Amino acid sequence: MGESRQEEKLINMNWEKTILITGGAGFIGSHVVRRFVTRYPSYLVINADKLTYAGNLENLADIDFKKNYSFEKIDIVNKEAVLGLFRKYNFDGVIHLAAESHVDRSITGPDEFVFTNIVGTVNLLNGALASWQKDFIGKLFYHISTDEVYGSLGSEGMFTEETAYDPKSPYSASKASSDHLVRAYNHTFGLPVVISNCSNNYGPNQFPEKLIPLAINNIKNNKAVPVYGKGENIRDWLYVEDHVSAIDLIFHNGKPCETYNIGGNNEWKNIDLIRMLCRIMDKKLNRTAGTSEKLITFVKDRPGHDLRYAIDSSKLQKEMNWSPIPKFEEGLEKTVDWYLSNQKWLDNVISGDYEKYYDSMYSGR
Ligand code: NAD
Ligand code: TYD
Repeated sequence: MGESRQEEKLINMNWEKTILITGGAGFIGSHVVRRFVTRYPSYLVINADKLTYAGNLENLADIDFKKNYSFEKIDIVNKEAVLGLFRKYNFDGVIHLAAESHVDRSITGPDEFVFTNIVGTVNLLNGALASWQKDFIGKLFYHISTDEVYGSLGSEGMFTEETAYDPKSPYSASKASSDHLVRAYNHTFGLPVVISNCSNNYGPNQFPEKLIPLAINNIKNNKAVPVYGKGENIRDWLYVEDHVSAIDLIFHNGKPCETYNIGGNNEWKNIDLIRMLCRIMDKKLNRTAGTSEKLITFVKDRPGHDLRYAIDSSKLQKEMNWSPIPKFEEGLEKTVDWYLSNQKWLDNVISGDYEKYYDSMYSGR
């Protein structure tokens, strides 16, 4: 990897830490990058991302000129590229978010999930090991994971950090596999790692394949809002900035090789959530009450659809005094406002292959 004089100058400045954030052009990653670049001007933040359909540098247009930020277009499945990145920057820490993240896509095409989520994670672990093995002091590999690794709950109980892994979809199985590998690198090689498992996020910049932005986009365009099965499945929703504040705390204060659950304590049946969203959309679009609800359409269920996720985040709350901020309805309103006032962002992400994706996923369902 050749380095330009400018890059060399940047790398050699007197940074307190140099951190690698993978997947920083995606939904959660872009909020993490923004927080670290703006809150920690003494850190050099390198965002490494392949820019798949889900990665979008527009998400970072407001900070990409900052002098403590730089972008590297990299596929983490490419072992040599990953090793080269570690050699180039001599990172102190890694926050690993890059992943294939959509359950439905993992059902129609699991291979990419194995490559990126498993092989990509191993490549990063090897890069960190090669770079840090002489001295682990002050180094940290922070792996961002999901509550879906724990499987599906019945009507009772919550996932704790001790819940046994029982992933049910190719997505969650690939994330579970990467979590195991991260722990194995700690156990076998002593690599300093930390993992967090978070519940469903929502907020600005989420690609409109996930439930909330897909529904906002469809309601706005008077299109059917597809609800899988009877809409009885339950998710625990967390505003993306709350996840990001937890990531900040865990990166700086997490104990080595610990796991932290992150969740909103905010369980909603899909159908109730969609009805609330319809009410908010009617209000924001000045539609007669009840107009948007007419768009709700029950469609064929997702194969193997996990019934319920609920996260017990009391460890994080107690140890780091973390708690989620906006009430769900406020967070949803903020999210709707963002999508309604960022039509250009939405137009850009749904140009290209989105329509093809939408038809293949929903027509005949
Ligand atoms: P996203 O799909 O919005 O973004 C993923 C990013 O990773 C994109 O920018 C994409 O370009 C990049 N990427 C994908 N494959 C890559 C590759 N081979 N090499 C380099 N970059 C690649 O995902 P998200 O919703 O922001 O999720 C981020 C992380 O958080 C994931 O690890 C996910 O498992 C985890 N997570 C997500 C949620 C959620 O509700 N979205 C909840 C808990 C955990
Ligand atoms: P999603 O946002 O895909 O997240 P996850 O599957 O990781 O929880 O889906 C959230 C819930 O909404 C899940 O129970 C599936 C359901 N769902 C629908 O009912 N319709 C849709 O069009 C989508 C995308 C999801």
